[in-house]
Amino acid sequence: IFAGRKNSCNINVDIISEITPFNNELTLQMQKTWQAAPVVNGQVITTELDNAKPVSAPYDRRIHVGQVLWSTPAEVTTALDSAAAFFPTWSAVPVAQRAECLDKVADLLEENLAELVALCHKEAGKTIHDSLDEVREAVDFCRYYAMQATENFSVAKNQVRFDGIAQQVTRQGQGVFVCISPWNFPLAIFLGQVAAALVAGNTVIAKPAEQTSLIAARTMELMLEAGLPKEAVHLLPGSGATVGSLLTSDERIAGVVFTGSTETAQVINRTLAKRDTNVATLIAETGGQNTMIVDSTALPEQVVRDVMRSAFASAGQRCSALRVLFVQEDVADRITTLIQGAMQELHVGLPQQHHTDVGPVIDLLAKKKLQAHIDKMRETSKVVGEVTLSDECNFGDFIAPIAFEINSIDQLENEQFGPILHIVRYKAAELNKVISEINATGFGLTMGIHSRNERSYTDIERQIRVGNCYINRDQVGAVVGVQPFGGQGLSGTGPKAGGPHYLYRFTKQVVSV
Ligand code: SER
Repeated sequence: IFAGRKNSCNINVDIISEITPFNNELTLQMQKTWQAAPVVNGQVITTELDNAKPVSAPYDRRIHVGQVLWSTPAEVTTALDSAAAFFPTWSAVPVAQRAECLDKVADLLEENLAELVALCHKEAGKTIHDSLDEVREAVDFCRYYAMQATENFSVAKNQVRFDGIAQQVTRQGQGVFVCISPWNFPLAIFLGQVAAALVAGNTVIAKPAEQTSLIAARTMELMLEAGLPKEAVHLLPGSGATVGSLLTSDERIAGVVFTGSTETAQVINRTLAKRDTNVATLIAETGGQNTMIVDSTALPEQVVRDVMRSAFASAGQRCSALRVLFVQEDVADRITTLIQGAMQELHVGLPQQHHTDVGPVIDLLAKKKLQAHIDKMRETSKVVGEVTLSDECNFGDFIAPIAFEINSIDQLENEQFGPILHIVRYKAAELNKVISEINATGFGLTMGIHSRNERSYTDIERQIRVGNCYINRDQVGAVVGVQPFGGQGLSGTGPKAGGPHYLYRFTKQVVSV
């Protein structure tokens, strides 16, 4: 896939062969603290140092990780002025040169692997395994988009028209792109958005999630070190309500790429629609109500392994994660008993321990929302599996994985972004009703199907409206360049991140005759 380029698999090989030096380096990096501040025209703006907000670790709120300075309206204006003024220059830079910058960013991510793992772990509460995956995905995004841009946008494509006249088609950037990224993939999605927008020829203003500004700030440093021009990419930490709104309502922007909740995507969409100038592009990857259907021909042990990973890996904080499991009645008792047993084996705890399966959730607000849902469900639904938190969770924001049996997906109002699984039994004759109910949620991100009956799973696949459908495997962890990722309906606009069509949406097509 990454023909002729280094690929991130090197990271894992290096770690396995040099595990001790890596661990030593990681231990060293874990002692550090970090700072995030607005970066405009390459200047880190620290004039408001007194207003810095402290950042603590989700797994132990006594641990200080760093501090964040949020951006002021004046900094938003300066960043917009600069990004807009520099667009013609950046857009004229040869694609190969823009792609080279991304490759250099990827090299720097690999060189700073231990620090980035420590940072993902400390600021976002990720397990070491998830933090390594996170850096690997960020590397993959850079190299993949660099390769895609070089292959598809470098030279004008010659076309011969029906009347024999030759014409040329080129792809150019659209202008200033605002990149608004989530906390659940604070490095990979943050950088994936920025890398795509930049290599396609746009200038960028990035607003990272409030919870993970430190990771974004360190990545920003690496981007500038890689040689990206200081006017081409700016970083504005801050809240969606202030910085996000100022950016998305500014008429100078050409597009927004957003990953987060469906509600916020709708707000952005309405804001963009109010413009009197150009119609701006919106690329949004949003929420889900992801399901898995298991019929009576499925292999129970494999189902349970894939359910555990899909529902509880990364503390259920993946947009791809499984929320509602439909199990055919004939095998429901067996599967539920196995899930119950497997849940007893889960270790919920400090994410730096290699034996931890489930770490903390992102913050107290998330914990409270999830806990409120659990409390409500306990009143009406049967608990079929539950994990007990150990004392090591006392100082952080943890939610113990839990599984409920419910009667219908209609009982769920919202997506629960955490380690909560809902199980619904269905009769074989009700399969079409199940499919209709899933489609009726309006969400369409991921879906899993477990069945050894080919006709059955192809039939479900044909009827279900989701972006990513996984058969006889888990449904999380889409690999860049292998499983392009993104949903439909309330789950997003497409195009799919990490896929061959993604970059095109960041460009405009120019035909010259
Ligand atoms: N791309 C991630 C996954 O597939 C979710 O954002 O799990």
